[in-house]
Amino acid sequence: MDEREIANLRKLMEYEANRTAPPSGFPNLPDLPGGRYTDPRFYELEQQHIWRKSWLLASHIDEIPEPGCFRLWETAGQPVLIVHADSGAINAFYNTCSHRGASIVTEIAGQRPRLVCRYHGWTYNHDGELLAVRNPEDFGDLDFSCRGLRAVRCERFGNLIFVNFDDHAPSLIDWLGPIAKEWEEFQFDKCRLAARHSFAVNCNWKIAMEANTEVYHVRSIHPKTVSPILDDRRNVNTFYPNGHGRMVAPSPKGADRYGAVNLPHDIAEIETVGEIARTCTQSYGIFPNWVSPLSARALPPLLFWPTSINTCQLETWTFAPDWGDNPKPDMWTENDGEKLVQVLLEDTEFGVWIQKSVESYGFRGVPLSYQEARIYHWNQFADRMIGIENIPPELRVEQVIGDEWIYPNDPRLACIE
Ligand code: FES
Ligand SMILES: [Fe+2]
Repeated sequence: MDEREIANLRKLMEYEANRTAPPSGFPNLPDLPGGRYTDPRFYELEQQHIWRKSWLLASHIDEIPEPGCFRLWETAGQPVLIVHADSGAINAFYNTCSHRGASIVTEIAGQRPRLVCRYHGWTYNHDGELLAVRNPEDFGDLDFSCRGLRAVRCERFGNLIFVNFDDHAPSLIDWLGPIAKEWEEFQFDKCRLAARHSFAVNCNWKIAMEANTEVYHVRSIHPKTVSPILDDRRNVNTFYPNGHGRMVAPSPKGADRYGAVNLPHDIAEIETVGEIARTCTQSYGIFPNWVSPLSARALPPLLFWPTSINTCQLETWTFAPDWGDNPKPDMWTENDGEKLVQVLLEDTEFGVWIQKSVESYGFRGVPLSYQEARIYHWNQFADRMIGIENIPPELRVEQVIGDEWIYPNDPRLACIE
């Protein structure tokens, strides 16, 4: 982040603390229809469009460090085989044999010189090409060149491996847009995978995620954990293209910024990390399901995955600089995944209560404040990705946040100059 951007953020923090109303020209946000959390039609639209067309974090290079290493990834509901090829490329395929559709691998991870189907032995290389079949003479003129494994889009951001089921999606870098440049200081190409855990949560995945997309709830839900280390009135939200968002909220002077999570003080730091991430909570929402407060000590995304309309899976990851002989840092859990840290328990336990409530006859919709506008921005983009005309009118959100509010545009900047 350059000097000018840092200076602007500092001024915007004061602007936010002193304003007595939302910024001039900021739209009133119409209620989010309640059915977006409970209507099976909307859940199906999410499946068909959002999960099918977005870049999704699937793995880290440390999980498949050498040629021949593979990982079976089914978190997004499709069976995907991610393979480290001899060339060094990371490939992804449907875990589906081109013969009769058997699974190529049935273990979560391993290492193999060739990918051999367990059913009748068809053999593929790490680039998915069909190399050999048993008794080829019995197939007539089988064209090997069109019987390879069906590829899934797979691209890296540094050491992180992302998957996209849409052959026509933009590249991962284009999808991240200006955030890719902003993230250079965090050196994602150097980070190691320190921890990855998964927890079942009994609420709709968006309810769980939205608790991490605004700071309006912090004083009530996190009075002892987050509230003392985050100045919520100085929070600055930024809307990025493609539904992504960022919050930057300073910590009060002297606050123990890592006090609410499980990160030791004496671990290595990412030296290039700038002033804002060192003194503020600088957290990103990457559409559709990633939330990460990035700091000099850890890059710890939380990922939210639907497992049904009213249940989800919370994945907690910690990426960090090499920890040497010290214990692996694990920001979000205690005892290596035994339980979530207190701050996440506060959110997830309350999410279960919210779910009961939104399923009741009494729930209609959600009025969002300016402070919660990143949630609205997410929903606006979700509708565009689904295709507004595909959504029943009573489940749509109005497109009220105009491009003039999308980074690098920001009408607030005119008020601070
Ligand atoms: S289904 Fe894979 S070899 Fe037959
Ligand atoms: Fe929270």
